Amino acid sequence: MSADPLLQPFQLKHLTLRNRLMITSHEPAYPEDGLPKDRYRAYHAERAKAGIALTMTAGSASVARDSPPAFNNILAWKDEVVGWMKKLVDECHDHGSAVMIQLTHLGRRTRWDVGDWLPVVSASPEREPAHRAFPKRIEDWDIARIIEDYADAAERMQAAGLDGIELESYGHLMDSFWSPLTNDLDGPYGADSLDNRMRFSFDVLRAIRKRVGDEFIVGIRYVGDEMLAGGIAKAEGMEISRRLKDSGLVDFLNVIRGHIETDAALTNVIPVQGMASAPHLDFAGDIRAETKFPTFHAAKIQDVATARHAVASGKLDMVGMTRAHMADPHIVAKIMRGEEGRIRPCVGANYCLDRIYQGGMALCLHNPSTGRELEQPHEIAKADTPRRFVIVGAGPAGLEAARVAASRGHEVIVHEAANDPGGQVRLTAQTPRRAEMIQLIQWRFEECEKLGVTFRFNSFADAATVMDENPDVVIVATGGIAHTEILPQGNDLVVSAWDILSGDVQPGSNVLIYDDAGDQAALQAAEKIASTGAKVEIMTRDRVFSPEVMGMTLTPAMWALQPLDVTFTVTWKLESVAREGNGLKATIGTDYSDVTRERLVDQVVVNHGTAPLEDLYFDLRESSRNLGEVDYDALIAGAPQEVSRQPDAAFQLFRIGDAVAARNTHAAIYDALRLVRTL
Ligand SMILES: Cc1cc2nc3c(=O)[nH]c(=O)nc-3n(C[C@H](O)[C@H](O)[C@H](O)COP(=O)(O)O)c2cc1C
Ligand code: SF4
Repeated sequence: MSADPLLQPFQLKHLTLRNRLMITSHEPAYPEDGLPKDRYRAYHAERAKAGIALTMTAGSASVARDSPPAFNNILAWKDEVVGWMKKLVDECHDHGSAVMIQLTHLGRRTRWDVGDWLPVVSASPEREPAHRAFPKRIEDWDIARIIEDYADAAERMQAAGLDGIELESYGHLMDSFWSPLTNDLDGPYGADSLDNRMRFSFDVLRAIRKRVGDEFIVGIRYVGDEMLAGGIAKAEGMEISRRLKDSGLVDFLNVIRGHIETDAALTNVIPVQGMASAPHLDFAGDIRAETKFPTFHAAKIQDVATARHAVASGKLDMVGMTRAHMADPHIVAKIMRGEEGRIRPCVGANYCLDRIYQGGMALCLHNPSTGRELEQPHEIAKADTPRRFVIVGAGPAGLEAARVAASRGHEVIVHEAANDPGGQVRLTAQTPRRAEMIQLIQWRFEECEKLGVTFRFNSFADAATVMDENPDVVIVATGGIAHTEILPQGNDLVVSAWDILSGDVQPGSNVLIYDDAGDQAALQAAEKIASTGAKVEIMTRDRVFSPEVMGMTLTPAMWALQPLDVTFTVTWKLESVAREGNGLKATIGTDYSDVTRERLVDQVVVNHGTAPLEDLYFDLRESSRNLGEVDYDALIAGAPQEVSRQPDAAFQLFRIGDAVAARNTHAAIYDALRLVRTL
């Protein structure tokens, strides 16, 4: 048996977990009708197949109708959930993985205008800023009803054959009783003592035990330190931990540190790129040391070395690597094969989590197969006939195309005009808080090298260069170039956000950034400019700023920008720029009226996305077999591309990523994966 601490089994009551890695509960928002159907099952089964010991399904599966989904959660109050969960459990069990589910009542962390339009409830009428709902102060009949709802849901999960459940008690109803900040009740559940504040939790646990018995595994994921003045502090968190253990009602503690009622607070609990690795690991270790009880924890333990340390040093029994498994479902299999170096690293971009808060399903920025296991399997099948691919551009789209083509057994040559791979991602990664983005490039580049892809750097490939390679397939992944030609007057006086990020243009001292794209580039340019001491205003015609930068991803940007006094102006748009003395006069207007204003600045930066670099594509189009045409039906169905407008032509031509239209990194990589796996 391996001596790797991560690969040692862990005994949790009667349940033997085959190693120390788990996926903590996280709702990827894949349910259909509130039920974990085929997409959901395939997602967990993939990770079970690759060796995860325990997968904690759902995330905030709702036990009651007045806890409507905040992000397309599993509805554990539905009886139909049993059949679907059973299918999922059976499949994961077949692969040797244990399965549990997180159950909760969301309390005030949801909205009343979804589901059945019932009022949300909490232990005080204070609203949660993130979800905005003003709750009803919970009454005795609500408490009695919800206790039974928990027990019903637990019984359903036992009936479905799950190995256990965990209750969620951070930022939801259960801990709204615990925290003096969110409990203003009188009486037996009131704020005046810890006994009273914990009464609801123990009532729920006792009701659950009555239904599921003593053997069924029941754990709790709970806050051990709110890190908030007046809230649950560490000493009280330790006391809560002891009481949970001593109650004999729970079998494991899954430790959370922090509070989650705003995007910024949540970002400290679930750190994103640029933030410290494993910031709460020592805290979780303190709880394990104090309670000597099975302790689980996850928070930016992204790499195997940190996970190994967490177990070897005795801080944790089970290590959650949740987003890491979204980026690479096969971590355990790779550890076991001695291929740790090939693990696709989670870069902390948080595209996965941010998307669910905007109503989308969780997708990984750099693994488009995640959540699409059925239509875009993680494994790439070999092609029947190896062919010669020429790919132009080594940004994320070009590298992914090269990786997939080489995995299919094709011969692959990549031309890149710069002397390094990366394209726009390389520029993005120059801002220290986004430096992890470069791993997205490095991983692909290293995989390509292992697969024998030939790279020709500093090669500005024109049509003749490409044709000289005698390709069977040409993929144009040349990306885009900053697009600033948007004004009737003064285009020659503005610079782009990418000019600032690349260092081609020095920052001004009084700068207007006009942000039409609403993405990270404007914020990164602002940070670079303002950190020189310059005055910076970011302006957008939209009604919110940075609409493409989602909640938790925005947080580190705000941590950087607010201390630098960067200001944000919404609903105003740049109309023209003219010279004025030594500086510039920007005329601004609005979509709402004819009102105009002026700004006197010394630099105007425009962020308006990129225009496709498409010359090469159009130069090659007429000599290609398909005239560049993509059969979208075949693309979506995963079938080969067979358009043949000129049957005698030697090669097929495709373009992908921003060379088609400005989109994002996920779109670029997904373009490449789903096209090239059919070629
Ligand atoms: C898409 C997504 C949804 C999540 N939903 C939940 C949830 O419903 N309940 C919960 O306790 N944690 C949830 N989490 C948090 C994870 O369980 C985990 O604590 C977090 O991702 C930090 O661990 P990691 O750095 O290993 O990813 C979610 C995470 C993600 C990525
Ligand atoms: S989107 Fe980013 S944070 Fe989420 S799993 Fe993928 S790489 Fe990790």
